[in-house]
Amino acid sequence: MSLPIAVLISGGGSNLQAIIDRKEQGVLDVDIRMVLSNRAGAYGLERAHAHGIPTAALSHKDFDSREEFDAEMVRILKNAGVEAVVMGGFMRIITPVFLSAFPGKIINIHPALLPSFPGVDGQGDAAKYGVQLAGCTVHFVDEKMDHGAVIIQAAVPAFPGEDEEELRKRILDQEHRILPQATQWLAQGRLSLEGRFVKLAGGDVSPAETDGASLVNPPLEKGF
Ligand code: GRF
Repeated sequence: MSLPIAVLISGGGSNLQAIIDRKEQGVLDVDIRMVLSNRAGAYGLERAHAHGIPTAALSHKDFDSREEFDAEMVRILKNAGVEAVVMGGFMRIITPVFLSAFPGKIINIHPALLPSFPGVDGQGDAAKYGVQLAGCTVHFVDEKMDHGAVIIQAAVPAFPGEDEEELRKRILDQEHRILPQATQWLAQGRLSLEGRFVKLAGGDVSPAETDGASLVNPPLEKGF
């Protein structure tokens, strides 16, 4: 049974594309009911259209408060039968109005190894700091930005002083692996929470996967 999801975007949607691709490859048990953007010009909406996925674009300027914006998003998503929400480059803070509509079913990709470098430019902050290891995180969304329990992370080598775009690309390549993987675990109902600790049922507890380009934990499973 596929999990009905929505993907929330604000920009290019390459993470959305990764989810669409894995779904079409048959390794992701989701039904993408809606792609919703807070920016009408987001290229990710084109990606959805190219795959026949319904879309919605809401401008926060049309709402008097964050809560009213969130209530409209919830109405649209519930109307589409959405049961879980994947944030793929969605650049807005959500309120308890949204959180309470999908309890324990909202995940987000952040382009840094949280809790390091939260906020709008995790990659750039890590690069400017001169880290030797950068990476990305998929976490459950809670009431604080980039704070929810961690589901999966991938670490990539960084070379202090390198061209920042090189590092962003290296991180993004891993985002495109761990976000679909986390989405699949959510769809399979294999994620549980014990306080801040995320437990993966039937997960491989062998040492984290490393392919030279990255270190991923929990290890990626076949197809991701
Ligand atoms: C990604 O690095 C994502 O983590 C960040 O925005 C970048 C672009 O994402 N939030 P996408 O191409 O729109 O998925």
